[in-house]
Amino acid sequence: MYQRSTPSLSTLRKIRIPATQWRAVAKFLRFALTTTFLHAVAASASGGPILTPKPGPQPKINGPTVYGARRGKPFLYRIPCTGQRPLQFSATGLPASLTLNNETGIIEGLAPQVDGSYPVILKATNRKGTVTRKFIIVVGDRIALTPPMGWNDWYTHYDRVTDAVMRDAANAMVASGMADFGYQYVNIDDAWMVKPGSDDPMLGGAPRDADGAIRPNRRFPDMKALAAYIHSKGLKAGLYSSPGPLTCAEFAGSYQHEKADAQKFADWGFDFLKYDWCSYGSLVPPKGHRTTEDYNKPYTLMGNLLKEQSRDIVFNLCQYGQGDVWSWGDSVGANSWRTTGDLGIEPRTSLPGFYTVGFANARHADFAAPGLWNDPDYILIGNIGNAHDFVQPAKLTDLTPDEQYSYMSMWVLMASPLFFSGDMSKLDPFTLNILCNSEVIDIDQDALGRQAQVIAKNDSEFILAKPMADGSLALGLFNLGREEKKMSVEWNQLGLAGTQTVRDVWRQKNIGHSEGQYATTVNPHGVALVRLSETSK
Ligand code: GAL
Repeated sequence: MYQRSTPSLSTLRKIRIPATQWRAVAKFLRFALTTTFLHAVAASASGGPILTPKPGPQPKINGPTVYGARRGKPFLYRIPCTGQRPLQFSATGLPASLTLNNETGIIEGLAPQVDGSYPVILKATNRKGTVTRKFIIVVGDRIALTPPMGWNDWYTHYDRVTDAVMRDAANAMVASGMADFGYQYVNIDDAWMVKPGSDDPMLGGAPRDADGAIRPNRRFPDMKALAAYIHSKGLKAGLYSSPGPLTCAEFAGSYQHEKADAQKFADWGFDFLKYDWCSYGSLVPPKGHRTTEDYNKPYTLMGNLLKEQSRDIVFNLCQYGQGDVWSWGDSVGANSWRTTGDLGIEPRTSLPGFYTVGFANARHADFAAPGLWNDPDYILIGNIGNAHDFVQPAKLTDLTPDEQYSYMSMWVLMASPLFFSGDMSKLDPFTLNILCNSEVIDIDQDALGRQAQVIAKNDSEFILAKPMADGSLALGLFNLGREEKKMSVEWNQLGLAGTQTVRDVWRQKNIGHSEGQYATTVNPHGVALVRLSETSK
């Protein structure tokens, strides 16, 4: 509506304005532009209040404080940093095998040859100031010491994904500022390979070459060049396969070609593999008759192969929590495992589907640890496609703003991998406010690597508490009801004592001191996300 009442720029250019009228015109223009902007934000952002403070012009380094790498393997890390550009980066304690580009903040090279902890101090400077942040590189067997963060194309592009979509997403991850908060992986989901039997010339053909190497379909002319492009931004590239003969969207899977595929993925330069059960179910006894070995065999095979490769490849299991995957994911070399079915098709109950998935995922808290993460699936907000009908165009989420704050808060408390899967070409300010709050992300990326424990769960409330490396406690009080609700939690439920300083994490503001309990009023389907730290005497 606002577009019709606001003159376009070309119309304005044609109007001749007498000098005496400029002040009134300027006033009108200011009004028109402000209302247009506000309407545009409201219209594109489900009208929610933006709680995340805008990052200041001073440099601020975000992201994890601990980072795992394997001996001698290629290393790539773009220092996530907000603040006015240009920035100048430097680092003290950086192992000699690594170099930092002072302008881009990208660290590259080979991980040290000797296992151990390498404490580094990262530094960023601009005209407004200087900031430092500790960053410990831990060389050893484990990678993904904090939950991986990035974007996956599935819920926007489905079986239409292309090389251009992935390159654009990498560009958008940097241009939108997401990379400055630690989003790093740009991951292709299903549908990059050949689709056996397809008569679409872009998708059909021989799935493998004469040597048995997997071929991408015509929408991906050069996988190696694509990964290199993503790397050139300091970001990492991910892809997808299935241990079955076909993927879930019926593209070629890795069955009986696991070794060749693992080598190919590494040779192309990919850093992340999502390995989706799909048609593997036809190769094992029917459900109810399967052993744990039936479930873990294909993952053991691929997990071992990935470790043999010349680069670090994060291994993400996707088999929907079958066979209690959380209890054996570690033993097959996984870094994360989906704990439930697809969030995008999870039916709504009295609450949107992400709550059901979140409640299920929360039960496995004891299995999460650095390098080992329960994965409750992607963050489906912003402009998002219809998982029941891929042909429908992506549209703005129908989750309320409070539900979106709850979604992100629940995911970070559960130390979940943080993968946005909405449209990267239509990122609106409200969606970015949900995705890019450095203190919210710090909860997820905390070096202790603990998943929140469930403190309370009933029909009307859900309370999660996550111990943090600095001794503080991140706490989420979720109101599951349709009315505003007074909620509280006692120190003895949390193992706390004395006076605690309470910080409102979304607003990044201390809100006072509490003794004995924390009590607040929470919006319908909303959350109070706070961090409690012992008040110093
Ligand atoms: C599902 C998986 C989704 C997506 C899809 C692709 O099995 O859970 O996340 O990868 O397959 O076909």
